[in-house]
Amino acid sequence: SRTQVGIVGAGPAGLLLATLLSRAGVDAVVLESRSRAYVEQRVRAGVLEAPTVELLREAGVAGRLDREGMPHSGISLRFAEDTASPQTDHRIDFDDLVGRGIVVYGQQEVVKDLIADRVDTRSEPVEFEVSDVAVHDIATDAPSITYTAADGTARTLRCDVIAGCDGFHGVCRGAFPEGALRIAERVYPFGWLGVLAKAAPTQDELVYANHDRGFALYSMRSPEVTRLYLQVPADTEAGDWSSSRIWDELDTRLACDGFRMNTGEFLEKPSVTGMRSMVAEPMRHGRLFLAGDAAHIVPPTGAKGMNLAIADVRVLAEALTGFFGSGSETGLDEYSATCLRRVWRAEHFSWWMTSMLHRFDDTDPNGDAFGRALQLSQLRYTATSRAAATGLAENYVGLPHGSI
Ligand code: FAD
Ligand code: DHB
Repeated sequence: SRTQVGIVGAGPAGLLLATLLSRAGVDAVVLESRSRAYVEQRVRAGVLEAPTVELLREAGVAGRLDREGMPHSGISLRFAEDTASPQTDHRIDFDDLVGRGIVVYGQQEVVKDLIADRVDTRSEPVEFEVSDVAVHDIATDAPSITYTAADGTARTLRCDVIAGCDGFHGVCRGAFPEGALRIAERVYPFGWLGVLAKAAPTQDELVYANHDRGFALYSMRSPEVTRLYLQVPADTEAGDWSSSRIWDELDTRLACDGFRMNTGEFLEKPSVTGMRSMVAEPMRHGRLFLAGDAAHIVPPTGAKGMNLAIADVRVLAEALTGFFGSGSETGLDEYSATCLRRVWRAEHFSWWMTSMLHRFDDTDPNGDAFGRALQLSQLRYTATSRAAATGLAENYVGLPHGSI
């Protein structure tokens, strides 16, 4: 079969690209290795920055997001000013500082909404449960994708352009010829243990805590569901943490005057996510374009991963619309450089938030006194200086698309 744009991966990047192209009258087929039920249940990110929300509205897929999403106009940084003091909250007021906020809405809800719009409402194609995906002839103007369909038959999809939206572990980045990609990378010596609990949130906003025992994050998904994370060593097996150990550790690290939290059964098995920064440049080779996690990874501390994937596909959809509409290759030629400016801003912000909030001296018996003092100084400065807080707020809420 044949289509204009063959999209590998039905995550936020691949699905939103398909939606934006459909609105512009460009044909696409989405190929996904997992089942529909699997991608709709996979719990990942939860923070939509302002430009993401605006784009989902423009694309006409924000109905449920506008009804069920939880708008937040700030976050708190929680830390102790010195070892003798208890932890206190320092609110970063997004509304006041930058006049915009975020919406807390699970990534898998965005994925559900995009699939329902494409498959159920418009009967446009997403092929789930495909395997053996490989891309061919990407340096020519007639690339193709071969795969095995869910029913076991071998297929070839001929296209004009391939969008590699297949995430960090996908096959598209690896299809670049030897030497065509420059990879910049940093791996952190810790991960996040994440839990989703059937417990009503007791906080109205997210709390990022820098505790002596390590970072903790208080988040939520709905008025009934709390989402929580703990910094753990990178090699941690989630199974080694009992639920009482998890709740005790959260209690300790999130302690603050007047803070209490509801506990409840875990709605999915706790899991550990590794932390890494990675950028693959350029994001295009011939007719293969990478978008989202396929091209770049951020540590989750800045809540940027999904938002960056969405910013990429906005640029790609506009470039492809120009290409198929008027034959202009200008947008395609500028795609990588345009995306990478925003990507590197998010890489810096995510690295900075990670550096400010995590414990780095686990492996050093003497502790990293200098690093710890720098963190506290940066936290105090961010909590008390309007200029510093504005920098955090502007990045967290998301710079307008196209502004950098
Ligand atoms: P993905 O969502 O990864 O989508 C890629 C899709 O491609 C997947 O559906 C995959 O099944 C499919 N695929 C892979 N290989 C193939 C193939 N060969 N053929 C066909 N399909 C293929 N970010 C945050 O901000 N906060 C978080 O708490 C957070 N938690 C995370 C937890 C985990 C375990 C992971 C992996 C990521 C997390 N992220 C988080 C990052 C965020 O979820 C990603 O940045 C976001 O999913 C990127 O979207 P994407 O569409 O580029 O990639
Ligand atoms: C969530 C995840 C993040 O990485 C973050 O920075 C904030 C919230 C979440 O899953 O709710």
